[in-house]
This record gives sequence, structure tokens and C-alpha cells, in this order.
Amino acid sequence: MQQDNKEYREKTIFNGLNGHSLISPFNSEKQLFDPKINLGILASGNGSNFENIIKSIQNNQLNAKISILIVNNPNCLAIKKALKYDIPYVIINHRDCNSRLEHDKLVLEKLEELSVELVVMAGWMRIVGEEIINKFKDRLINIHPSLLPSFKGVNAIQQAIDNRVTITGCTVHYVQKDVDSGSIIIQAAVPIKEQDSKETLRKRIQNMEHIILPLAIAKVAKNIRTSFKDNK
Ligand code: GRF
Repeated sequence: MQQDNKEYREKTIFNGLNGHSLISPFNSEKQLFDPKINLGILASGNGSNFENIIKSIQNNQLNAKISILIVNNPNCLAIKKALKYDIPYVIINHRDCNSRLEHDKLVLEKLEELSVELVVMAGWMRIVGEEIINKFKDRLINIHPSLLPSFKGVNAIQQAIDNRVTITGCTVHYVQKDVDSGSIIIQAAVPIKEQDSKETLRKRIQNMEHIILPLAIAKVAKNIRTSFKDNK
């Protein structure tokens, strides 16, 4: 059984994705929109996705401006990246708030104060409440390290390994009340190799996250600009 599984995995990896990752839907044309979209980024961790969004803007791949990085964790490395690139940031520590509602309210106030148009949860380890979700309907997106709807919630990479799937990946989706469940914008499939550790797999998934998140932002921003024009 073990052997069968190994053979099956190898066939899937080498004949299917040929050892490579796959992005869907893939559009080689740049999503053009104007003027720049005003982004608010929410992060709790290393901020590699945050940094990559900054680089995409600097390389003219993304017509955007980051008005604010909001972090809930005063020790997160994303802050260092904000300092490095001179991006305004604010710490809204949930531990200083009496309730989830109060924390959400402070986050929402900041986003509205800066007229943020699109909110990107880039490693935001908090569940956001309905008020933010409703205020930012179709303008609040999240990146998750699995091929949703598989492996929702925390430890998605470990869940994929434990379940012995042969392909996992990452997903950018709209945020809804239920965790990791809104409609999917873009996904990247990443084969799990026989010799993968959690760390090697995480690295390959993150490489794909860094590709699909700017693509998703551009796609949603284009929708925002288009519906804005339609409503005029
Ligand atoms: C990413 O793997 C993302 O999918 C998950 O949290 C991680 C954040 O990584 N939601 P980073 O902080 O952007 O490096």
C-alpha cells in the first residue's frame, strides 16, 4: 500500500504537473487599470507577501499605492519591512482591546480614515468581523496556503502533508464570514515531492504566493475600477 502510494505520487508529480506549479486562471496579459488603487495591508507575521507587493509596485507590475500596513502583533517582522520601504504602519494590538468587536472597529476606522479601496490580508492571523466584511464587500481578499476548499484554517501546509495529498498550493479568495471560504480569485497548484519537509514545501508554496497575490490584487482592482465607471 505504502509502495503504491509512492508510485502514485511520483506519477502525479512527474507526469501531471511535470514537477512544476500551475496557476489558474492564468492570464498572461497585464491587468490594466487607472488611477492607482489605494491598498491597506493587514499582516501578523514575516511580511514576505507584504514586501512582495511593495516590489511589484516598484517594478511597475502593479498600479497601486500602499496607504497603510496594519499589524496586530507588535513583534511581527512585517513592521521591519514597512520601515525598510518607508510605508506607514500602525500597530493595533488585539491584546489591548476588550473585545474582538473593539479591535475590528479600530482596524475599520483606520482603513476608512485613509480611504483604502482594497484590503489585502497578507498573513493576517485574525478572523475579521462582519462589519469589516460588509464595508469592504468584494474589496477584502486573503491569501491561504492550500488549494481551497481543502485544508482551511491554521496549519494548512501540515494538514496537506498529513493527508498525503500529492498536490497542494495556495489560494487568493474574497473574505466571507466563514473562515477561508469566500469565492476564489486565483490558485496555484504545487506538487508535493516525496522528499519534501514542511519547510521545503512552505518555501515552494510561498514562491507561488508571491506570484499570485499581485495578480489577484490587479484583477480585483480592475473590477473595482470598472464597476466604479459603470456606476457613474
Ligand atoms: C502565508 O503563507 C499566507 O498564505 C498565510 O500566512 C503566510 C504569511 O506569510 N496566510 P508572510 O507573512 O507573508 O511571509
